[in-house]
Amino acid sequence: MAVGRRTEMTSSALSKLFGPCRIAGLDLNNRLVMAPMTRSQSPSGVPDQRVAAYYERRAVGGMGLIITEGTAIDRPRSLDDPNVPHLFGEAALLGWKRVVDAVHTAGAKIAVQLWHVGAFAGRKSAWQSDDESIESPSGLRGPREPCGHAMSEEDIADTIDAYARAAETAVALGFDAVEVHGAHGYLIDQYFWKETNLRADKYGGATVKDRTRFAVEVVNAIRTKIPKTFPFIFRFSQFKQQDYSARLAQTPGELEELLGPLVEAGVDMFHASQRRFWEPEFEGSSLNLAGWTRRVTHAPVITVGSVGLNGDYMGNWQGETSQPSSLDRLLERLEKDEFDLVAIGRAVLNDPYWATKIRHGRTDELSAFDVSALETYY
Ligand SMILES: Cc1cc2nc3c(=O)[nH]c(=O)nc-3n(C[C@H](O)[C@H](O)[C@H](O)COP(=O)(O)O)c2cc1C
Repeated sequence: MAVGRRTEMTSSALSKLFGPCRIAGLDLNNRLVMAPMTRSQSPSGVPDQRVAAYYERRAVGGMGLIITEGTAIDRPRSLDDPNVPHLFGEAALLGWKRVVDAVHTAGAKIAVQLWHVGAFAGRKSAWQSDDESIESPSGLRGPREPCGHAMSEEDIADTIDAYARAAETAVALGFDAVEVHGAHGYLIDQYFWKETNLRADKYGGATVKDRTRFAVEVVNAIRTKIPKTFPFIFRFSQFKQQDYSARLAQTPGELEELLGPLVEAGVDMFHASQRRFWEPEFEGSSLNLAGWTRRVTHAPVITVGSVGLNGDYMGNWQGETSQPSSLDRLLERLEKDEFDLVAIGRAVLNDPYWATKIRHGRTDELSAFDVSALETYY
């Protein structure tokens, strides 16, 4: 197995990874974050006891901060699957309260990820067959791929309000932070991306800065509904599920244009989603997307992407298996303060006790990940 042994890692970087820290107002036991991962295991949007047990196991297993799977805001077409959990409705909120309490009892913190899929909403699915009500900036799911309708100003105002109400609910339920899903080609990213945002009004425009308007209004609205000190994370990515090679920012300057307005609006921390954390983002530097995000915004940042595995998650959907791999390259970057927190997806899906095993050098107990784990993980 290609896993680095504990002795190969520098002890100072390891103690930094596993030591307590205060980042963006969050007091954490360590720097390990469970990445948001959709499960579609909440029938009719209600997370049940099994969902609580699933997150509790990862908290017991040593994650410092858990970010929930994408959770629907209260808009009729915010979802692509009827079993994705809601953050509205009495039964769903009771379910989330149980999750929050279980994670807290286990000693970890938990943030909820707010999600609207935009043009990816359950198209052609049996549960919702009305395509026209699907909403997105320009009625496009991808380049020249029509789907649903372009949002009216009223749709936009109502959607922004739904984000704000969801954040207010998160505070009331006892979540420790809120994360807005602005990545991977979903609604907010459909506004950022020039291929899916062809609007001629104030929500569109030629530059990436012009196209941040919708996200900025979401952030502003959320900020009015949550305490000033309540930690607010924003997740974004260059790549889209519509196009893995898409880029919102070709240069560090454009990255600053994209993220600067979000900091001004009240984002405390960014979650820079990339598929492989070791890949440099721009020429002439080894910094990854998280590293550049920190450099241009001076805000704390979470890195992510194939931590602890040798293959990225897109490969897994094409039938590849990812083997456990060394953390050495990650620790080198952590030691250089390129990012503040480290999110782990599939490795923690595969094994709730991944963090504990890494911490105690029990790497021989780690196993490979393939998508069949999605059927069997618990
Ligand atoms: C099954 C699965 C579901 C995912 N669902 C979400 C999601 O709901 N929200 C999100 O922002 N990212 C989602 N992602 C992306 C992960 O958060 C993470 O960025 C990605 O898996 C890369 O991390 P990894 O290489 O450690 O798995 C999902 C990934 C997987 C494997």
